[in-house]
Amino acid sequence: MQATQSMRRCNSSVLVLAMAALTVQAAHAQSAPAPSAAESAIAARVLASTCANCHGMDGRSAGGMPMLAGYPRDAMVSTMQAFRSGQRPATIMHQLAKGYTDDQIALVAEHFSRLKALP
Ligand code: HEC
Repeated sequence: MQATQSMRRCNSSVLVLAMAALTVQAAHAQSAPAPSAAESAIAARVLASTCANCHGMDGRSAGGMPMLAGYPRDAMVSTMQAFRSGQRPATIMHQLAKGYTDDQIALVAEHFSRLKALP
């Protein structure tokens, strides 16, 4: 298929990162071999980058928004699940959280928990 071939030839870092994220999803969907630690780390950073617009680069908020860097993993997982289910009311996070699977939430929560609030 032509689209697939041109994607293989394309070596932009954005596509590489996106493919890594998709690889993680596909691995879970098709019970393929688990992604390597490096693939998971890249996928986590791709997911976390979507939070940066509001919560700051690497989850380091300049104030006014909750700090995600250093947020305890289990607390983030349960908070995101509470947003997703509507159990925790929100202005925006209840909508955003619906776009993430349990695995993606766990991955991004693990990522932020390892970051220090101050670089
Ligand atoms: C469009 C802006 C926006 C984006 C993007 C965004 N958030 Fe949020 N986030 C908010 C707002 C606003 C709140 C406060 C709750 C509310 O009103 O939705 C919040 C609250 C939270 C909280 C609760 C913090 C606390 O202790 O009260 C967590 C956890 C969180 N966000 C995680 C994330 C993660 C993880 C991502 C990326 C996957 C993300 N957010 C992306 C705007 C955003």
